[in-house]
Amino acid sequence: MTGIAEWLASIGLEEYAQRFAENAIDLSVVRDLTEQDLKDLGVLLGHRRKMLRAIAELKGAVLITPQTGAKLVPRDDAERRQLTVMFCDLVGSSALSARLDPEDLRRVIGAYHICIAEVIGQYEGIIARYMGDGVLAYFGYPQAHEDDAEQATRAGLALVDAVANLQTDIGAELQVRIGIATGTVVVGDLIGEGAAQEQAVVGETPNLAARLQTLAEPGTVLISASTHRLTGGNFEYRDLGPVTLKGWGETLPAWQVLGTSGVESRFEAQHQTRLTPLIGRDEEIDLLLRRWRYAAQGEGCAVVLSGDPGIGKSHIARALQERLQAEPHITLRYFCSAHHTISALFPFISQLERAALFERSDSPTQKFAKLEALLAQSAADADHVAVLANLLSLPPNDRYRLPELSPQNRKEKTFAALLAQLDGLAAREPVLLIFEDVHWIDPTSRELLTVTLERVPRLRVLLLITARPEFTPPWPGHAHVTTLLLTRLSRRDGAALIERVTAGKTLPEEVMNQILARTDGVPLFVEELTKTVLETGLLQERDGHYVLNRPLPSMAIPMTLHASLMARLDRLAPVREVAQIGAVVGREFSYELLNAVAGLPIERLEEALGQLVRSELVFCRGEVPHAVYTFKHTLVRDAAYSGLLKSRRAEVHAAIAGPSVATRLRCALVRAN
Ligand SMILES: Nc1ncnc2c1ncn2[C@@H]1O[C@H](COP(=O)(O)OP(=O)(O)OP(=O)(O)O)[C@@H](O)[C@H]1O
Ligand SMILES: [Mg+2]
Repeated sequence: MTGIAEWLASIGLEEYAQRFAENAIDLSVVRDLTEQDLKDLGVLLGHRRKMLRAIAELKGAVLITPQTGAKLVPRDDAERRQLTVMFCDLVGSSALSARLDPEDLRRVIGAYHICIAEVIGQYEGIIARYMGDGVLAYFGYPQAHEDDAEQATRAGLALVDAVANLQTDIGAELQVRIGIATGTVVVGDLIGEGAAQEQAVVGETPNLAARLQTLAEPGTVLISASTHRLTGGNFEYRDLGPVTLKGWGETLPAWQVLGTSGVESRFEAQHQTRLTPLIGRDEEIDLLLRRWRYAAQGEGCAVVLSGDPGIGKSHIARALQERLQAEPHITLRYFCSAHHTISALFPFISQLERAALFERSDSPTQKFAKLEALLAQSAADADHVAVLANLLSLPPNDRYRLPELSPQNRKEKTFAALLAQLDGLAAREPVLLIFEDVHWIDPTSRELLTVTLERVPRLRVLLLITARPEFTPPWPGHAHVTTLLLTRLSRRDGAALIERVTAGKTLPEEVMNQILARTDGVPLFVEELTKTVLETGLLQERDGHYVLNRPLPSMAIPMTLHASLMARLDRLAPVREVAQIGAVVGREFSYELLNAVAGLPIERLEEALGQLVRSELVFCRGEVPHAVYTFKHTLVRDAAYSGLLKSRRAEVHAAIAGPSVATRLRCALVRAN
């Protein structure tokens, strides 16, 4: 198969080829499409089902399923990973098998497996194994995502619903029990069958997920402490307290997931308490306040806050909101999502739904009334209400009916309605418009944001955009747009942040120094590493400060950062091994040494190093062959190192220390001199 058009043709849906092409969907992203994406693309319900099934099959090509008939392939590239593991089991299957004809049972189990594969795929998990009517799924392999635990939990909730809604003609509803846990496992020996598969599940985490599953009530999802810690404020939970699990000596905490919490943003999900004071960043806040003054007086402008994950973009946006609290103004917040990068106008749709206070249980009529009330605040006319009701997928009613429109026409009318809404609000009061995470923006929203940006100088609007460095603005340079590159916190501010986390209690100097050295001034790293250190029991509180109660060991990577660090390395999967070998050398490694130990052809090594430098995970000083490379973040180096099996680390260490490398390095030195 060569392209998306051929794939669509192979499932009899070539009519969508042009729409896929227009939305830049090729075979590399088709596996990531969710039901919502397909809906947004205008794919009909029946076709969506068909496509999702075909996508699941496409994924199946890389799945490790018993049906593949693969023999155990011992892979020497096995790796240690933090994974979120899900165990899902069908309730009452023995009773079913007693009651049903085997052929009917086979059909039911078949439908159930397809349903599970679809849902797991939608949430970017993979099915590692079917075990009769049980399913083992992994989230975070082969590609880590920063929110794997959250995605697994969402998948769990979705599975409960999807299985209950399966039409099976057996006169009873199917139900599942689900257990989810996060932890370190070894993956790589996943390919196999029969007894070999037992080795696929190495580490305590899969067992824990399986045990939690047996404890779950039918139709519920139980999660471990680690998963709970990672999913934070994204869900509502019921604390089950310490539970006894078969095979575990001690009791363990467990939570039942009741549903999503409806939290507005990623930042809020991680911060359920009041916003903590902003440390440093005075210049950024001053600039934003100055721009706000211009905007409030009618000279609208925009600021793009750009910086690495965890550097503090959202915190600054929230701090600005707080500073403006006492002033009359309107705040509008839009959030792009890593899972809706091709859902047309996703941030705008979800903003309208939140602002109109839509509830899941609302009828279309109630939703329409809420939308009308919301839009009345910006004096929208009936046409705009109709267009936006259509954008929110509300069915036509007697008060609104949209004429047949071409897609282009509908898009123009939707843009006009959304822009008119902003005009109307800005005419009432100055508007602070925060647009978060535009590195994930969908193409249609990008177009509308560009138009909004051009319109801003005429409005009482400050448009604050946050983006990670990979975002390239599609708009040309404008005088009213300022870009602020956020860099690391100073050492002093880093120390102040540590003290905030320890609630003012001072840490021993060597602990403080190690935290500062390993976190490179990235506030998220500082916070998480400090919390991890406090939790390890290394420190004892004495008279308002902490003392070490044993020698300081090397610090582990906080589990909350694991997925995000791995995700950065996984995006460079083909060259990750080079990063890992470099990581064994240390934060800094020379070209010569790497060349001596990596055992790779020169071109491949240089290409890999080039890619690492382009991705900004690694900086380079000097020219090959005298180049020296440095990991930008110590924790990225640590994550690369932690992915190697201990045995592989030992091999690389031995190679580095071995005589042949020493000789090659000596020769290189002589040549250089
Ligand atoms: N200047 C600061 N003072 C105090 N805490 C900060 C500061 N900057 C960031 N933090 C804290 O660091 C963590 C990460 O910050 P934040 O979420 O704002 O990063 P971000 O740049 O928005 O990351 P992402 O790209 O993932 O959205 C948060 O817990 C935040 O409260
Ligand atoms: Mg943020």
